Amino acid sequence: MNLIIVSNREPYRAERVRGTYKLEKTIGGLVSAFEPLLREKGGKWICWGRKRKGQPDQLKVNEKFSIHYVPLTSADVSEYYYGFSNETLWPLCHMFLTRTHFNDSYWKGYRRVNRKFAKVVVENWESGSKVLVNDYHLALVPQLLREHGVTDPIYFFWHIPFPPYFMMRFLPSRREILEGILGADVIGFHTQHYVDNFLSCVREILGAMYDDNIVFWNGRKIEVRAVPIGLDSELWKSLSVNTRVIRYASNLRKRLNVEFVGVGVDRLDYTKGLEEKFRGIGRFFEKYPSFRGKVSFIQIAAPTRTKLEDYVDIKRRTDEIVGMIEGRFGEPGWVPIYYYYKNYPDERLASLYRMADFALVTPLIDGLNLVSKEYVATQVDGDGVLILSEFAGASIQLRDGAIIVNPFDEEEIAEAVYMALKMKRRERRERMMQMREVVLTEDINWWIREFMK
Ligand code: UDP
Ligand code: G6P
Repeated sequence: MNLIIVSNREPYRAERVRGTYKLEKTIGGLVSAFEPLLREKGGKWICWGRKRKGQPDQLKVNEKFSIHYVPLTSADVSEYYYGFSNETLWPLCHMFLTRTHFNDSYWKGYRRVNRKFAKVVVENWESGSKVLVNDYHLALVPQLLREHGVTDPIYFFWHIPFPPYFMMRFLPSRREILEGILGADVIGFHTQHYVDNFLSCVREILGAMYDDNIVFWNGRKIEVRAVPIGLDSELWKSLSVNTRVIRYASNLRKRLNVEFVGVGVDRLDYTKGLEEKFRGIGRFFEKYPSFRGKVSFIQIAAPTRTKLEDYVDIKRRTDEIVGMIEGRFGEPGWVPIYYYYKNYPDERLASLYRMADFALVTPLIDGLNLVSKEYVATQVDGDGVLILSEFAGASIQLRDGAIIVNPFDEEEIAEAVYMALKMKRRERRERMMQMREVVLTEDINWWIREFMK
């Protein structure tokens, strides 16, 4: 298959070292899902690149896989990426209406950049290619490609929650966004719930008819599918048996010197519920003092969209609450929460997942959440407990094995931690087995087969 992936985010940050480029994978579920696939199977990836001076418009990663950058000006970046994508669509789709900014220059920038992306796709497209356009940054691209005469199936996948009609109706450009997406032949979401939201939006806003998951629009039939994205299960399985990973995990575990360790890995985004998670951990130590000194929690909070006020704010609030918990419960020789504001590579994350007795994945709302699946995929010994938010798309697939919590309820988080620590080995293994079955079967190759069939 001649695959063209189109996304805002570039798969790597490329740094020039002694005449060649050192590639460092970027952070986020979309890149984590597709990067291993393209590295192995080949294809073209069209994206906005944080290009370094002198870097060409294309980068060849290997014989089969190349990256093609869409050049953006600084006004493009601030209006389209920081503005419309991350101050309008992102908060709106995650139901944070009070954080949503409506601004006409953001919308103009968004339209302009979507046209730039479409132009680069058309330049790289040849008959027989399969084009997969991704996410909320590029909602207008499918229709633009159709207008440019791209005739092969155009696939579009929306990786974040799709809002219900009562939220979408606030968006001044709601019609154009929906019409842009309907330019695709196949549209995908992680869950049927998001599909239903999308269908009711096209009915209420555009007056389009649909039957089952087929939308009838402008004389065309468009299929809307719910296919939750999966991870590269082979990669995570092999990382978890890698000797460096195991050595690091067991050394770290010794150094922590506690009976139980929990882990969390998130971008530091206000949707990820870090404040609420820490409050839940605080409540746990308050309610169950006998566990003080026995349980430590490691949280990776990867920096993201740091130029935006809301992200500066969540960083300050998270720092504060971690400090409060340390100050209140910590003792010389025991740290309740180890908190790192950094990006970690897969190998290091695999060590953290492997050595943890439980993972706390409690976004307030999340399109899918790949971290929960990575934790499960690395539990090769079949042990470990996943505590998962009911508002993460992944909870549909993992609900029989995980302890499902309402992330807004600190009491429930505290009880879930207690339950995880008290759970009998047999139950832990049964639950983990169920989740591993799903995560290892419904992986990225399954997703390609199901979504792009
Ligand atoms: N991730 C990473 N390094 C970090 C933090 C996160 O590589 O320091 C990766 C993580 O392994 C996962 C992705 O970023 O694959 C996050 O995806 P998820 O779907 O959980 O959330 P998103 O960030 O896309 O909202
Ligand atoms: C989410 C979005 C992705 C995005 C990622 C990281 O997963 O669905 O499209 O790439 O967050 O965000 P960033 O703004 O750094 O690309």
